[in-house]
Amino acid sequence: MDSNIKTLNEKLAQAHLGGGQQRIDKQHANKKLTARERILYLLDTGSFEEIGALVTHRTKDFGMDKQQYYGDGVVTGYGTISGRLVYVFAQDFTVFGGSLSETHAEKICKVMDLAVKVGSPIIGLNDSGGARIQEGVRSLGGYADIFYRNVQASGVIPQLSAIMGPCAGGAVYSPAMTDFTIMVQDTSYMFVTGPNVVKTVTNETVTSEELGGASTHATKSGVAHITATNDVECLEDIKKLLSYLPQNNQEKAKDYPFELTDEIRQELAEIIPDNANKPYDMHAVIAGIIDTNSFYEIHKDHAENIIVGFARLGGKSIGIVANQPMFLAGVLDVNSSKKAARFVRFCDAFNIPLLVLEDVPGFLPGTDQEWNGIIVHGAKLLYAFSEATVPRITVITRKAYGGAYDVMNSKHIGADINYAWPSAEIAVMGAKGAAEIIFKKDINAAADPEATWKEKEAEYAKLFANPYSAAERGFVDEVILPETTRHKLIKAFAMLEDKTVNKPKRKHGNIPL
Ligand code: HXC
Repeated sequence: MDSNIKTLNEKLAQAHLGGGQQRIDKQHANKKLTARERILYLLDTGSFEEIGALVTHRTKDFGMDKQQYYGDGVVTGYGTISGRLVYVFAQDFTVFGGSLSETHAEKICKVMDLAVKVGSPIIGLNDSGGARIQEGVRSLGGYADIFYRNVQASGVIPQLSAIMGPCAGGAVYSPAMTDFTIMVQDTSYMFVTGPNVVKTVTNETVTSEELGGASTHATKSGVAHITATNDVECLEDIKKLLSYLPQNNQEKAKDYPFELTDEIRQELAEIIPDNANKPYDMHAVIAGIIDTNSFYEIHKDHAENIIVGFARLGGKSIGIVANQPMFLAGVLDVNSSKKAARFVRFCDAFNIPLLVLEDVPGFLPGTDQEWNGIIVHGAKLLYAFSEATVPRITVITRKAYGGAYDVMNSKHIGADINYAWPSAEIAVMGAKGAAEIIFKKDINAAADPEATWKEKEAEYAKLFANPYSAAERGFVDEVILPETTRHKLIKAFAMLEDKTVNKPKRKHGNIPL
């Protein structure tokens, strides 16, 4: 018996060493934790249970039969985060660069299957050179097995991806199909093909960082939802993000203790500038409404003209979508529409109520937007709100112009409650432009066209640059004082708590992609 135990312990010790001490030291020298260190940091102390520690690959080609490492480049299992069950896989860069073999893929699929069966989040810590080159098509098949599961699990359990090293080829497509991707600055990158292939095919010279580093994906492409400065911060981000989410699509996110008082947030009354063309920071409105310091922003540096993120309101998890007048006056464009649409669909899939804060002058005009398909991308946001069945509330803080009024969670597309502040302006367009079009003849014929234009502008503004025309028709349920907004919203979301919507049977809708 003693020798049996000795054998087991030796094997486990080897498994724990991954690709060996030298490669572990290299990983540390590169400012990266190892796969095991990452898992142990992420999960509650002592909660990790490993599955498949002694799996080895089955390849014999290229002398691979002589290179065996227990675990085959990925550590998989389950544990808890703040007492909640999660499944996890962490690729081990010290074993063949974390590359994905047939057996490596099988291990990941095994925990993904368990996560779906049990209904708990799956977290992938990616650090991989892509398909295991020595295995050819078996590795490609392994990737496809994972991709297929990503899709089957989509909208069923939360899927979170951390990119914690170089991720090339197949290693980027699974994260892309999960709900959130967090990248570590300076030590991680994601691309379908690296700089060398880029140079060969397009003759373009680009560094890995420029091509697919964390800041590239957080700003330009929007592939990364969150960036972290190092491994530890990245793992903390996962824990924080998870705190806003339910275990699966049949549950709601956990409530935090809260007691309703007649709380007035006076600071909200001071935010909207007297001049309607002056910007203000919508973050101040968010901070004034939500539970103190509870905002967790997603896609912070991408399409900054719209803000999306999770927060707590009265102890309950909500998703916020808010126009940001500080950037491009808060217009809707291609990137902001896509960013918001994806967030709305996530919240809807996981029973997270939506709060929309609206100050939008319309869609961004121009050839750049039209040629890049603003019609179809704007339609994504319209579609996403229209199909969402979670409780949905809008607060119009200032402008609600044109098609953007319809799109930004208007009553017409299924919002449950719409409030407007007295500063709201709800119209087809701004008064100046509107006057120019509808009073063109009067303006041209006038002795003083400029003065007539101003007069007509004032006339239009009086009629529409306010919330009352919409309130009279019931398109706005109530015009509220800014300082009462938090209190009103807590009560309204509580009222909507048991909302149910029955939809006609269909396979799936056809969102404009
Ligand atoms: C097998 C690999 C590997 C891979 C790295 N290694 N990538 N082994 N298959 N794909 C091994 C290396 O041989 C090395 O082994 C160890 O991992 C560390 O790699 P280094 O190159 O020394 O590390 P580094 O300099 O940090 O560079 C990391 C890297 C680079 C950028 C990831 O290794 C690289 O470019 N790898 C290949 C990337 C790639 O083209 N992958 C295939 C993509 S195609 P030793 O023994 O020296 O420690 C693909 C298709 C799927 O994924 C498509 C599905 C849609």
